Parts: sequence; structure tokens; C-alpha cells
Amino acid sequence: MNSAAILDTLERASEACADPAPLIYQRLFGAYPHLESLFVMDRDGGVRGSMLETCFNIIFGLLKGSETSRFLISAGRMQHEGYGVPDGEFDVMFAAMRDTFRELSGSGWTLEAEAAWADLLSEIAAIK
Ligand code: HEM
Repeated sequence: MNSAAILDTLERASEACADPAPLIYQRLFGAYPHLESLFVMDRDGGVRGSMLETCFNIIFGLLKGSETSRFLISAGRMQHEGYGVPDGEFDVMFAAMRDTFRELSGSGWTLEAEAAWADLLSEIAAIK
């Protein structure tokens, strides 16, 4: 895993936008409108906030080879079946993050960054 390339994209994205959460969920719900209704109880955005924080922690953990991140992903898959998240759609959250960071990085997004994120997303997809 090319951790340096991933960390570089996160840094570029955070320089371009201090709080990417609204952009990430806008992109997620733009691509998967049916998922937005699952958050009907999340009136203050607290769930979406802690969910995104968990996703960031998982990414940072995977870059360091942490087993905890792998556990959080597999536990999260099971938990989200109970929330009504269709099978196979759990991972689109990470793709929405990647796509948002790609947009925020603009011309700073390299082929190396694209390949590094593709590796990370396939590693996440392989964790059942
Ligand atoms: C598109 C994919 C996803 C959808 C639609 C989704 C949807 C939801 C919903 C609706 C809840 C609230 C459930 C409730 O309290 O009734 C929730 C909670 C949560 N989700 Fe996701 N989720 C997704 C992906 C993920 C991913 C990838 C993670 C990372 C492990 C994650 C972590 C969490 C956590 C930690 C909570 C609990 C937050 C809290 O109660 O404060 N979610 N999710």
C-alpha cells in the first residue's frame, strides 16, 4: 500500500477544504439517493459525523497495517445490514471519500494517487 500517496491526497484535500463531510455525503447521496432516507433520524448530523470519523480512522489504521481497522470494517458490514444498507453498498462510502478528495486535489491528483486509492479500496472490499 502506497501510504505516502494516500496521506498526500488527504493533506491536499484538507488544505482545499477544512470540512469535507458535506461534500462527501452530497456525493454519496447524489450517486445513491436511496441511502439518504436511512439517515432520517440523524437530524443534527451526529451519526454522519461519527461515521465519517470512523472511516478516516479506518483508513489511517489500514495505512499502518492495523488489525483493528480490519475488525471495524467486518463488524461494520454486519451492523449495517441491520441498518438496511444494501449488500455491496457499504464500501461506496470510501469511494465517495476518494472521489471527493480527487476533486478537491484538482491537478495535484496524480496517477500514483489514483493507483494508491484503488489499492486501498480493493483492500477494504476484500475484508468481509
Ligand atoms: C454507504 C454506506 C453507508 C451507509 C448508507 C451507512 C448508514 C448508516 C446509518 C443509517 C447509520 C445510523 C444507524 C442508526 O443509528 O439507526 C450508521 C451508523 C454508523 N455507521 Fe454507517 N453507513 C455506511 C457506511 C459506513 C462505513 C463504511 C462505516 C465505517 C465502519 C460506517 C460506520 C458507522 C458508525 C460508526 C455508525 C454509528 C454512528 C453513531 O451511532 O454515532 N458506516 N450508518
